[in-house]
Amino acid sequence: MKVVETIGAMKRVRLELTEPVGFVPTMGYLHEGHLALVRQARAENPSVVVSIFINPTQFGPKEDFDKYPRDPEHDLALLEKEKTDIVFMPSEVKIYPPQFSSWVEVRKVTERLEGASRPGHFRGVTTVVAKLFNIVQPTKAYFGQKDAQQLVVIKKMVADLNMNLEIVTIPTVREPNGMAMSSRNAYLNPEQRQAATVLYKAISLAQRLWLRGGRDAEHMRQEMITLMKKEPLASIDYVSVADAKTLDELDTINPPALVSLAVKIGKTRLIDNVVLE
Ligand code: PAJ
Repeated sequence: MKVVETIGAMKRVRLELTEPVGFVPTMGYLHEGHLALVRQARAENPSVVVSIFINPTQFGPKEDFDKYPRDPEHDLALLEKEKTDIVFMPSEVKIYPPQFSSWVEVRKVTERLEGASRPGHFRGVTTVVAKLFNIVQPTKAYFGQKDAQQLVVIKKMVADLNMNLEIVTIPTVREPNGMAMSSRNAYLNPEQRQAATVLYKAISLAQRLWLRGGRDAEHMRQEMITLMKKEPLASIDYVSVADAKTLDELDTINPPALVSLAVKIGKTRLIDNVVLE
């Protein structure tokens, strides 16, 4: 495994990789969710590149950029075990030099849900992902269903800008108690961790209603809200039942529909989702 820290070095090692090249972009502090992406990339490609870069432009001014968890040595040990070929770990100034002034912006699907709660977030995500795609030039890039809207946005960017790669979706990896694995789970104390299972309980309820024939989206939202209000440590940011492609809120549920939610447990903001098919 090679660790490269500059864009020039990444482009040079790229020339020697056997095609096709699988790429997994991450912000580090890796867990089993990230590793599921790496394993799928490993299974499908002779060459695997993983990037670790905590992208400052996707964090709002009041968000957790400064305290986002990091443990590069542990990350590298995990990636070595997964037989990663290249780890790209650029510094902030390499990605955003002082004169940097270009942005990639996807409209519409970025304007609701996470985009509404976190203005500018997706502009940061699409800009850094477009840059990483240009630097790494992958054949396939792997993203987790955990960040469902991010996937919709990235797929739209790739289609609209005719980017020459395939986006692969990996199902959400969960803890034994159901909660989605996330680097931000590290912020939770034991009591908050218990409270955080309310997100999984709410999406499981939505799934049950759907399987029993429930088609009324507003009824589904209200049932999820009622359930989550019983958890005193949780404060709801949004609960959505939307078209899985356009992210337009639904009245009547037509599959595939994306049930997604964002909830704050103390100061930690968590998201989760399920697709009704
Ligand atoms: P990060 O939060 O580190 O996540 C990297 C990738 O891992 C994303 O595609 C995310 O959806 C996936 N992932 C995280 N938790 C997962 C889980 N429990 N199950 C399955 N996949 C999971 O997402 C980002 O970084 C950034 O926005 C990035 C795309 C790297 C751009 O900066």
